[in-house]
Amino acid sequence: MTVKVFKDDDTLAEEAAEELIKTIQYSPKAVICMASGNSPKKTCSRFVEKVKRTQLDLSGVHFIGLDEWVGIDQEDPGSCHYFLKNNLILPLNIGKEHFHLFNANVTDLAEECIKMDDIIDQLGGIDLMVVGIGMNAHIGFNEPGIPFHNKCHVAALDGTTQQVGQKYFTSKRILKKGITLGLQNLIDSRKVILLANGIAKAPVVAQALKGEVTPTVPASILQKHPNSLVMLDTDAASAISQ
Ligand code: F6R
Repeated sequence: MTVKVFKDDDTLAEEAAEELIKTIQYSPKAVICMASGNSPKKTCSRFVEKVKRTQLDLSGVHFIGLDEWVGIDQEDPGSCHYFLKNNLILPLNIGKEHFHLFNANVTDLAEECIKMDDIIDQLGGIDLMVVGIGMNAHIGFNEPGIPFHNKCHVAALDGTTQQVGQKYFTSKRILKKGITLGLQNLIDSRKVILLANGIAKAPVVAQALKGEVTPTVPASILQKHPNSLVMLDTDAASAISQ
């Protein structure tokens, strides 16, 4: 695990976008899994700018959505679907056969998980996973206590996720379940980048990077990944050395 600290969130986003670009330059058929939410938002915007400026060819690249809230409409501005469509897919004009997002409104969610794992297998695995960290140390919707060996699954969301998740919505939503790639998908990815910014993330970042590797702190799995890069702004990094 490599940890890099940047002077501010803008620099972090710039460098994270550069990592995405390098991945695609190296592997024009890269399979990239992206989280949604505040952590990757600026990175997506920098990435879109850079792709347009350099006319980088994305025609071989596949994008996978990390997770989705069960029961939330795809067109709801708080959904992961909406985030990825508006921050990545539409601005870059990615064809529908090149992005793969969970449909969390199907009746058979277990089947939806199998489908996503099959897509990942058929594409030859994930080259780069870009994730955030929740206030409870979750990655995707891998909630505290979830075994490291899970692949795509439906998760019962813990209290922190249900509460913090309200920030994405304009009015209160019932957020009881999520559908998500698992930590085994993360372990199997050829590279993982975790992005964290802001002082609120400092304690959980320190716990994940310096504490015991345990399912109670899902993001601690990054310590064991052979090719993980943690990119932090100075605020998010501020509890690491204490
Ligand atoms: C979202 C996701 C979540 C978030 C995490 C941090 O797709 O997978 O695990 O990455 O909750 O959220 P932000 O970045 O909004 O602080």
